[in-house]
Amino acid sequence: MRMYDVIAKKRDGAALSDAEIQFFVDGYVAGDIPDYQASALLMAIYFQGMTPRETAALTLCMARSGDMVDLSTIDGIKVDKHSTGGVGDKTTLVIAPIVASLGVRVAKMSGRGLGHTGGTIDKMESIPGLRTALDERAFFDIVRKVGVSVVGQTGNLVPADKKLYALRDVTATVNSLPLIASSIMSKKIAAGSDRILLDVKTGSGAFMKTVEDSIALAQEMVSIGKQVGKTTVALITDMDRPLGCAIGNALEIQEVCETLRGRGPADLTEVCLALASNMLSLAGKGDLDTCRALAQRQIENGAAFTKLKEMVAAQGGDVTVLEDFEKFPKAAVCQTIAAQKNGYLYAIDTERCGIAAVELGAGREKKEDAIDFSAGIVLRKQIGEPVRKGEPIADFYTSELEKIHAAEELFQESISIKEELPPQKPLIYARVTADKIERIKSL
Ligand code: URA
Repeated sequence: MRMYDVIAKKRDGAALSDAEIQFFVDGYVAGDIPDYQASALLMAIYFQGMTPRETAALTLCMARSGDMVDLSTIDGIKVDKHSTGGVGDKTTLVIAPIVASLGVRVAKMSGRGLGHTGGTIDKMESIPGLRTALDERAFFDIVRKVGVSVVGQTGNLVPADKKLYALRDVTATVNSLPLIASSIMSKKIAAGSDRILLDVKTGSGAFMKTVEDSIALAQEMVSIGKQVGKTTVALITDMDRPLGCAIGNALEIQEVCETLRGRGPADLTEVCLALASNMLSLAGKGDLDTCRALAQRQIENGAAFTKLKEMVAAQGGDVTVLEDFEKFPKAAVCQTIAAQKNGYLYAIDTERCGIAAVELGAGREKKEDAIDFSAGIVLRKQIGEPVRKGEPIADFYTSELEKIHAAEELFQESISIKEELPPQKPLIYARVTADKIERIKSL
Protein backbone atom coordinates (compact mmCIF):
# COMPACT_ATOMS: atom_id res chain seq x y z
CA MET A 1 0.00 0.00 0.00
CA ARG A 2 1.25 3.54 -0.76
CA MET A 3 0.31 6.64 1.25
CA TYR A 4 0.18 8.57 -2.04
CA ASP A 5 -2.75 6.40 -3.22
CA VAL A 6 -4.59 6.75 0.11
CA ILE A 7 -4.33 10.55 -0.13
CA ALA A 8 -5.47 10.58 -3.77
CA LYS A 9 -8.45 8.32 -3.00
CA LYS A 10 -9.71 10.61 -0.24
CA ARG A 11 -8.95 13.74 -2.31
CA ASP A 12 -11.25 12.33 -5.02
CA GLY A 13 -14.05 11.74 -2.52
CA ALA A 14 -13.98 7.96 -2.13
CA ALA A 15 -14.33 6.19 1.22
CA LEU A 16 -11.16 4.61 2.62
CA SER A 17 -11.15 0.95 3.60
CA ASP A 18 -10.41 -0.15 7.17
CA ALA A 19 -7.02 -1.45 5.98
CA GLU A 20 -6.11 1.93 4.45
CA ILE A 21 -7.06 3.76 7.65
CA GLN A 22 -5.05 1.30 9.74
CA PHE A 23 -2.06 1.72 7.38
CA PHE A 24 -2.20 5.50 7.84
CA VAL A 25 -2.56 5.52 11.65
CA ASP A 26 0.07 2.83 12.27
CA GLY A 27 2.49 4.36 9.78
CA TYR A 28 2.12 7.86 11.16
CA VAL A 29 2.54 6.81 14.81
CA ALA A 30 5.61 4.72 13.88
CA GLY A 31 7.15 7.68 12.06
CA ASP A 32 7.10 5.91 8.66
CA ILE A 33 4.62 8.39 7.17
CA PRO A 34 5.96 11.95 7.18
CA ASP A 35 4.05 14.99 8.42
CA TYR A 36 3.58 16.36 4.88
CA GLN A 37 1.69 13.27 3.72
CA ALA A 38 -0.35 13.07 6.95
CA SER A 39 -1.21 16.79 6.53
CA ALA A 40 -2.35 16.20 2.95
CA LEU A 41 -4.66 13.40 4.07
CA LEU A 42 -6.05 15.49 6.96
CA MET A 43 -6.83 18.31 4.53
CA ALA A 44 -8.50 15.86 2.14
CA ILE A 45 -10.62 14.58 5.07
CA TYR A 46 -11.38 18.18 6.04
CA PHE A 47 -12.87 18.85 2.60
CA GLN A 48 -14.33 15.45 1.71
CA GLY A 49 -15.50 14.30 5.17
CA MET A 50 -15.77 10.67 6.19
CA THR A 51 -18.61 8.16 6.25
CA PRO A 52 -19.75 6.97 9.71
CA ARG A 53 -17.96 3.67 9.02
CA GLU A 54 -14.70 5.40 8.16
CA THR A 55 -14.94 7.65 11.24
CA ALA A 56 -15.54 4.63 13.48
CA ALA A 57 -12.58 2.78 11.90
CA LEU A 58 -10.30 5.81 12.37
CA THR A 59 -11.45 6.12 15.99
CA LEU A 60 -10.73 2.47 16.78
CA CYS A 61 -7.29 2.52 15.11
CA MET A 62 -6.43 5.65 17.12
CA ALA A 63 -7.76 4.18 20.39
CA ARG A 64 -5.62 1.07 19.89
CA SER A 65 -2.46 3.01 19.01
CA GLY A 66 -1.31 2.92 22.66
CA ASP A 67 -2.36 1.55 26.07
CA MET A 68 -6.00 0.59 26.59
CA VAL A 69 -7.20 0.86 30.19
CA ASP A 70 -8.87 -2.34 31.41
CA LEU A 71 -11.48 -1.48 34.06
CA SER A 72 -12.95 -5.01 34.15
CA THR A 73 -11.40 -5.70 37.57
CA ILE A 74 -13.60 -2.96 39.03
CA ASP A 75 -17.17 -4.17 39.68
CA GLY A 76 -20.24 -2.65 38.09
CA ILE A 77 -21.03 -0.59 35.03
CA LYS A 78 -18.46 2.19 34.63
CA VAL A 79 -19.76 5.38 33.03
CA ASP A 80 -17.40 8.05 31.72
CA LYS A 81 -18.31 11.66 31.07
CA HIS A 82 -16.66 14.10 28.71
CA SER A 83 -17.23 17.80 28.14
CA THR A 84 -16.08 19.47 24.95
CA GLY A 85 -14.85 22.33 27.14
CA GLY A 86 -15.91 25.77 28.24
CA VAL A 87 -15.62 28.60 30.73
CA GLY A 88 -16.58 27.93 34.35
CA ASP A 89 -17.35 24.30 33.50
CA LYS A 90 -16.79 22.50 36.80
CA THR A 91 -19.53 19.90 36.29
CA THR A 92 -17.29 16.81 36.58
CA LEU A 93 -16.45 17.65 40.18
CA VAL A 94 -20.13 17.99 41.05
CA ILE A 95 -21.56 15.01 39.22
CA ALA A 96 -18.82 12.43 39.80
CA PRO A 97 -19.37 12.52 43.60
CA ILE A 98 -23.17 12.51 43.13
CA VAL A 99 -23.18 9.34 41.03
CA ALA A 100 -20.44 7.67 43.09
CA SER A 101 -22.48 8.29 46.25
CA LEU A 102 -25.20 6.17 44.60
CA GLY A 103 -22.85 3.25 43.96
CA VAL A 104 -21.83 4.00 40.36
CA ARG A 105 -18.07 3.69 40.09
CA VAL A 106 -16.31 6.55 38.31
CA ALA A 107 -12.73 6.04 37.09
CA LYS A 108 -12.16 9.26 35.24
CA MET A 109 -9.21 10.71 33.41
CA SER A 110 -9.48 14.43 32.86
CA GLY A 111 -7.45 17.12 31.15
CA ARG A 112 -5.89 20.48 31.84
CA GLY A 113 -7.17 23.79 30.58
CA LEU A 114 -5.77 25.29 27.41
CA GLY A 115 -6.61 28.61 25.82
CA HIS A 116 -9.79 30.15 27.18
CA THR A 117 -11.15 26.89 28.62
CA GLY A 118 -10.49 25.49 32.07
CA GLY A 119 -9.52 21.90 32.89
CA THR A 120 -10.66 19.67 35.74
CA ILE A 121 -7.11 18.61 36.67
CA ASP A 122 -5.98 22.22 37.17
CA LYS A 123 -9.04 22.93 39.30
CA MET A 124 -8.34 19.87 41.48
CA GLU A 125 -4.70 20.82 41.95
CA SER A 126 -5.79 24.11 43.55
CA ILE A 127 -6.66 21.96 46.60
CA PRO A 128 -3.41 21.89 48.63
CA GLY A 129 -1.72 18.48 48.57
CA LEU A 130 -4.09 16.84 46.09
CA ARG A 131 -2.35 14.48 43.65
CA THR A 132 -3.71 13.91 40.15
CA ALA A 133 -0.73 11.95 38.79
CA LEU A 134 -1.47 8.50 40.21
CA ASP A 135 -0.27 5.23 38.77
CA GLU A 136 -2.92 2.81 37.58
CA ARG A 137 -2.80 0.71 40.75
CA ALA A 138 -3.34 3.64 43.12
CA PHE A 139 -6.06 5.00 40.79
CA PHE A 140 -7.95 1.69 40.71
CA ASP A 141 -7.55 1.22 44.50
CA ILE A 142 -9.25 4.56 45.15
CA VAL A 143 -12.06 3.75 42.72
CA ARG A 144 -12.61 0.42 44.52
CA LYS A 145 -12.49 1.91 48.04
CA VAL A 146 -14.11 5.33 47.56
CA GLY A 147 -16.08 4.73 44.36
CA VAL A 148 -14.58 7.67 42.46
CA SER A 149 -11.21 8.99 41.42
CA VAL A 150 -10.34 11.70 38.89
CA VAL A 151 -6.76 11.74 37.64
CA GLY A 152 -4.67 13.09 34.77
CA GLN A 153 -4.06 10.83 31.82
CA THR A 154 -1.98 7.79 32.84
CA GLY A 155 0.37 5.76 30.63
CA ASN A 156 0.71 6.03 26.89
CA LEU A 157 -2.91 6.66 25.98
CA VAL A 158 -3.80 7.31 22.32
CA PRO A 159 -0.41 8.47 20.98
CA ALA A 160 -2.05 8.76 17.54
CA ASP A 161 -4.23 11.57 18.85
CA LYS A 162 -1.30 13.37 20.46
CA LYS A 163 0.56 13.42 17.12
CA LEU A 164 -2.45 14.08 14.92
CA TYR A 165 -3.89 16.80 17.16
CA ALA A 166 -0.57 18.67 17.15
CA LEU A 167 -0.46 18.40 13.36
CA ARG A 168 -4.10 19.53 12.96
CA ASP A 169 -3.36 22.49 15.19
CA VAL A 170 -0.77 23.84 12.74
CA THR A 171 -2.41 22.82 9.45
CA ALA A 172 -5.85 24.44 9.94
CA THR A 173 -7.58 21.07 10.13
CA VAL A 174 -8.82 21.08 13.74
CA ASN A 175 -12.34 22.06 12.79
CA SER A 176 -13.39 18.91 10.97
CA LEU A 177 -16.29 16.94 12.35
CA PRO A 178 -14.91 13.39 11.78
CA LEU A 179 -11.50 14.48 13.08
CA ILE A 180 -12.92 16.04 16.27
CA ALA A 181 -15.25 13.11 16.85
CA SER A 182 -12.49 10.50 16.39
CA SER A 183 -10.08 12.49 18.57
CA ILE A 184 -12.53 12.68 21.49
CA MET A 185 -13.99 9.19 21.16
CA SER A 186 -10.62 7.44 20.74
CA LYS A 187 -9.60 8.79 24.17
CA LYS A 188 -12.92 7.76 25.72
CA ILE A 189 -12.67 4.25 24.28
CA ALA A 190 -9.05 3.83 25.44
CA ALA A 191 -10.05 5.01 28.93
CA GLY A 192 -12.04 1.80 29.32
CA SER A 193 -15.52 2.72 30.64
CA ASP A 194 -18.56 0.76 29.48
CA ARG A 195 -20.84 3.71 28.73
CA ILE A 196 -20.19 7.33 27.85
CA LEU A 197 -22.01 10.58 28.54
CA LEU A 198 -20.96 13.53 26.38
CA ASP A 199 -21.59 17.15 27.29
CA VAL A 200 -21.31 18.94 23.96
CA LYS A 201 -21.10 22.66 24.63
CA THR A 202 -22.58 25.18 22.25
CA GLY A 203 -22.23 28.95 21.97
CA SER A 204 -19.65 31.74 22.11
CA GLY A 205 -17.42 29.97 24.64
CA ALA A 206 -17.56 26.58 22.91
CA PHE A 207 -15.79 24.83 20.11
CA MET A 208 -19.06 24.52 18.21
CA LYS A 209 -20.77 27.90 18.01
CA THR A 210 -24.20 26.79 16.76
CA VAL A 211 -26.69 24.29 18.14
CA GLU A 212 -26.97 22.50 14.77
CA ASP A 213 -23.18 22.01 14.51
CA SER A 214 -23.13 20.76 18.10
CA ILE A 215 -25.92 18.28 17.38
CA ALA A 216 -24.07 17.05 14.26
CA LEU A 217 -20.89 16.48 16.32
CA ALA A 218 -22.91 14.74 19.03
CA GLN A 219 -24.58 12.45 16.47
CA GLU A 220 -21.22 11.50 15.00
CA MET A 221 -19.81 10.62 18.44
CA VAL A 222 -22.93 8.76 19.58
CA SER A 223 -22.81 6.74 16.36
CA ILE A 224 -19.14 5.83 16.96
CA GLY A 225 -20.03 4.73 20.50
CA LYS A 226 -22.77 2.48 19.12
CA GLN A 227 -20.48 0.95 16.50
CA VAL A 228 -17.86 0.02 19.11
CA GLY A 229 -20.45 -1.37 21.54
CA LYS A 230 -20.36 1.46 24.12
CA THR A 231 -23.75 3.07 24.64
CA THR A 232 -23.22 6.81 24.32
CA VAL A 233 -25.60 9.68 25.06
CA ALA A 234 -24.92 13.37 24.46
CA LEU A 235 -26.49 16.48 25.96
CA ILE A 236 -26.11 19.74 24.08
CA THR A 237 -25.63 22.40 26.77
CA ASP A 238 -25.27 26.15 26.68
CA MET A 239 -21.85 27.82 26.65
CA ASP A 240 -23.06 31.20 25.47
CA ARG A 241 -22.41 32.39 29.04
CA PRO A 242 -19.96 31.13 31.67
CA LEU A 243 -21.41 28.25 33.69
CA GLY A 244 -22.08 29.39 37.27
CA CYS A 245 -20.44 32.54 38.65
CA ALA A 246 -16.85 31.44 39.31
CA ILE A 247 -14.12 31.25 36.65
CA GLY A 248 -10.70 30.18 37.90
CA ASN A 249 -9.43 27.15 39.71
CA ALA A 250 -9.74 27.60 43.50
CA LEU A 251 -12.77 29.85 42.97
CA GLU A 252 -14.47 27.07 41.00
CA ILE A 253 -13.70 24.45 43.67
CA GLN A 254 -15.50 26.68 46.17
CA GLU A 255 -18.49 26.85 43.83
CA VAL A 256 -18.42 23.05 43.45
CA CYS A 257 -18.66 22.72 47.26
CA GLU A 258 -21.50 25.22 47.43
CA THR A 259 -23.36 23.35 44.67
CA LEU A 260 -22.91 20.02 46.46
CA ARG A 261 -24.32 21.65 49.60
CA GLY A 262 -27.40 22.77 47.66
CA ARG A 263 -26.36 26.44 47.57
CA GLY A 264 -24.88 26.65 44.08
CA PRO A 265 -25.90 28.93 41.20
CA ALA A 266 -29.16 27.84 39.55
CA ASP A 267 -27.66 27.32 36.06
CA LEU A 268 -24.79 25.16 37.29
CA THR A 269 -27.09 23.13 39.52
CA GLU A 270 -29.53 22.52 36.66
CA VAL A 271 -26.85 21.39 34.18
CA CYS A 272 -25.26 19.15 36.83
CA LEU A 273 -28.59 17.52 37.71
CA ALA A 274 -29.28 16.86 34.02
CA LEU A 275 -25.82 15.35 33.49
CA ALA A 276 -25.93 13.34 36.72
CA SER A 277 -29.35 11.89 35.91
CA ASN A 278 -28.15 10.85 32.44
CA MET A 279 -25.05 9.24 33.91
CA LEU A 280 -27.12 7.38 36.50
CA SER A 281 -29.59 6.26 33.88
CA LEU A 282 -26.75 4.99 31.66
CA ALA A 283 -25.55 3.02 34.70
CA GLY A 284 -28.95 1.34 34.93
CA LYS A 285 -30.31 3.23 37.95
CA GLY A 286 -33.70 3.94 36.35
CA ASP A 287 -35.40 6.41 34.05
CA LEU A 288 -34.31 10.04 33.90
CA ASP A 289 -36.96 11.33 36.35
CA THR A 290 -36.08 8.68 38.93
CA CYS A 291 -32.37 9.38 38.52
CA ARG A 292 -32.85 13.13 38.84
CA ALA A 293 -34.71 12.63 42.12
CA LEU A 294 -31.90 10.35 43.34
CA ALA A 295 -29.25 12.94 42.41
CA GLN A 296 -31.19 15.72 44.11
CA ARG A 297 -31.56 13.63 47.27
CA GLN A 298 -27.78 13.04 47.44
CA ILE A 299 -27.23 16.81 47.40
CA GLU A 300 -29.91 17.44 50.03
CA ASN A 301 -28.73 14.72 52.44
CA GLY A 302 -25.05 15.70 52.14
CA ALA A 303 -23.94 12.31 50.77
CA ALA A 304 -22.53 13.78 47.54
CA PHE A 305 -20.45 16.41 49.35
CA THR A 306 -19.15 13.72 51.72
CA LYS A 307 -18.13 11.66 48.67
CA LEU A 308 -16.17 14.60 47.23
CA LYS A 309 -14.31 14.94 50.54
CA GLU A 310 -13.55 11.21 50.58
CA MET A 311 -12.07 11.41 47.08
CA VAL A 312 -10.00 14.50 47.91
CA ALA A 313 -8.65 12.83 51.06
CA ALA A 314 -7.81 9.62 49.18
CA GLN A 315 -5.84 11.64 46.63
CA GLY A 316 -3.88 13.37 49.39
CA GLY A 317 -5.73 16.71 49.38
CA ASP A 318 -6.40 18.94 52.38
CA VAL A 319 -10.11 18.38 53.02
CA THR A 320 -10.37 21.21 55.53
CA VAL A 321 -10.23 23.83 52.74
CA LEU A 322 -13.49 22.47 51.38
CA GLU A 323 -15.22 23.36 54.67
CA ASP A 324 -13.38 26.61 55.28
CA PHE A 325 -12.59 28.54 52.09
CA GLU A 326 -10.43 31.01 54.04
CA LYS A 327 -7.81 28.26 54.05
CA PHE A 328 -7.35 28.39 50.26
CA PRO A 329 -4.27 30.36 49.23
CA LYS A 330 -5.50 33.94 48.79
CA ALA A 331 -5.01 36.22 45.79
CA ALA A 332 -2.96 39.30 46.70
CA VAL A 333 -5.29 41.58 44.74
CA CYS A 334 -9.08 41.63 44.67
CA GLN A 335 -10.70 44.33 42.59
CA THR A 336 -14.34 45.01 41.94
CA ILE A 337 -15.30 45.78 38.33
CA ALA A 338 -18.16 48.22 37.72
CA ALA A 339 -20.77 48.43 34.96
CA GLN A 340 -20.08 51.18 32.42
CA LYS A 341 -23.71 52.00 31.75
CA ASN A 342 -27.31 51.40 32.81
CA GLY A 343 -29.39 48.63 31.30
CA TYR A 344 -29.68 44.85 31.32
CA LEU A 345 -26.72 42.51 31.16
CA TYR A 346 -27.57 41.35 27.63
CA ALA A 347 -24.82 38.95 26.56
CA ILE A 348 -21.33 37.71 27.43
CA ASP A 349 -18.81 36.80 24.76
CA THR A 350 -17.78 33.76 26.76
CA GLU A 351 -14.50 33.04 24.99
CA ARG A 352 -13.33 36.62 25.59
CA CYS A 353 -14.43 36.46 29.22
CA GLY A 354 -12.42 33.22 29.59
CA ILE A 355 -9.39 34.96 28.09
CA ALA A 356 -9.79 37.76 30.68
CA ALA A 357 -9.57 35.11 33.42
CA VAL A 358 -6.46 33.63 31.75
CA GLU A 359 -4.97 37.13 31.68
CA LEU A 360 -5.44 37.33 35.47
CA GLY A 361 -3.43 34.09 35.80
CA ALA A 362 -6.22 31.48 35.96
CA GLY A 363 -5.10 29.68 32.80
CA ARG A 364 -2.14 29.20 30.55
CA GLU A 365 -1.48 30.46 27.06
CA LYS A 366 1.25 27.91 26.43
CA LYS A 367 1.30 24.36 27.80
CA GLU A 368 4.34 25.07 30.00
CA ASP A 369 2.91 28.22 31.67
CA ALA A 370 2.29 28.06 35.44
CA ILE A 371 -1.19 28.67 36.81
CA ASP A 372 -2.09 31.04 39.64
CA PHE A 373 -4.70 28.90 41.42
CA SER A 374 -6.16 31.82 43.35
CA ALA A 375 -6.74 33.95 40.22
CA GLY A 376 -10.00 34.41 38.34
CA ILE A 377 -13.32 36.15 38.06
CA VAL A 378 -16.51 35.91 40.11
CA LEU A 379 -19.49 37.29 38.24
CA ARG A 380 -21.90 39.26 40.37
CA LYS A 381 -24.59 39.58 37.70
CA GLN A 382 -26.27 37.04 35.47
CA ILE A 383 -27.52 37.61 31.93
CA GLY A 384 -30.92 39.33 32.04
CA GLU A 385 -30.29 41.14 35.35
CA PRO A 386 -30.62 44.94 35.48
CA VAL A 387 -27.38 46.86 36.14
CA ARG A 388 -26.69 50.49 36.93
CA LYS A 389 -23.63 52.44 35.82
CA GLY A 390 -20.94 52.12 38.52
CA GLU A 391 -22.56 49.08 40.13
CA PRO A 392 -20.24 46.07 40.75
CA ILE A 393 -20.66 43.38 38.09
CA ALA A 394 -17.67 41.18 38.87
CA ASP A 395 -14.75 40.64 41.25
CA PHE A 396 -11.29 40.04 39.83
CA TYR A 397 -8.65 38.05 41.73
CA THR A 398 -4.97 37.98 40.84
CA SER A 399 -1.50 37.90 42.35
CA GLU A 400 -0.25 40.71 40.13
CA LEU A 401 -1.88 44.14 40.20
CA GLU A 402 -0.58 45.03 36.72
CA LYS A 403 -2.69 42.24 35.20
CA ILE A 404 -5.95 43.90 36.17
CA HIS A 405 -5.96 46.59 33.47
CA ALA A 406 -5.67 44.33 30.40
CA ALA A 407 -8.08 41.81 31.93
CA GLU A 408 -10.66 44.51 32.63
CA GLU A 409 -10.44 45.78 29.06
CA LEU A 410 -11.11 42.28 27.73
CA PHE A 411 -13.91 41.70 30.23
CA GLN A 412 -15.65 45.00 29.47
CA GLU A 413 -15.43 44.17 25.75
CA SER A 414 -16.93 40.74 26.45
CA ILE A 415 -20.13 42.01 28.03
CA SER A 416 -22.91 43.89 26.39
CA ILE A 417 -25.40 45.96 28.37
CA LYS A 418 -28.56 47.03 26.52
CA GLU A 419 -31.78 48.77 27.32
CA GLU A 420 -33.88 45.77 26.33
CA LEU A 421 -34.05 42.38 28.02
CA PRO A 422 -32.16 39.59 26.23
CA PRO A 423 -34.14 36.69 24.75
CA GLN A 424 -34.40 33.78 27.17
CA LYS A 425 -32.19 30.90 26.08
CA PRO A 426 -32.24 27.28 27.18
CA LEU A 427 -29.48 25.77 29.33
CA ILE A 428 -29.95 22.40 27.66
CA TYR A 429 -30.86 22.30 23.99
CA ALA A 430 -31.03 18.65 23.09
CA ARG A 431 -30.37 15.06 24.09
CA VAL A 432 -28.88 12.88 21.40
CA THR A 433 -29.07 9.09 21.56
CA ALA A 434 -28.36 6.45 18.93
CA ASP A 435 -31.95 6.53 17.73
CA LYS A 436 -33.15 10.06 18.26
CA ILE A 437 -32.57 13.74 18.88
CA GLU A 438 -34.85 15.12 21.60
CA ARG A 439 -35.05 18.91 21.54
CA ILE A 440 -35.32 20.22 25.10
CA LYS A 441 -36.67 23.54 26.23
CA SER A 442 -35.04 23.94 29.65
CA LEU A 443 -34.76 27.59 30.66
N1 URA B 1 -11.10 18.02 21.91
C1 URA B 1 -10.36 16.95 21.54
O1 URA B 1 -9.97 16.13 22.37
N2 URA B 1 -10.09 16.79 20.23
C2 URA B 1 -10.50 17.65 19.29
O2 URA B 1 -10.22 17.44 18.12
C3 URA B 1 -11.24 18.76 19.68
C4 URA B 1 -11.53 18.92 21.02
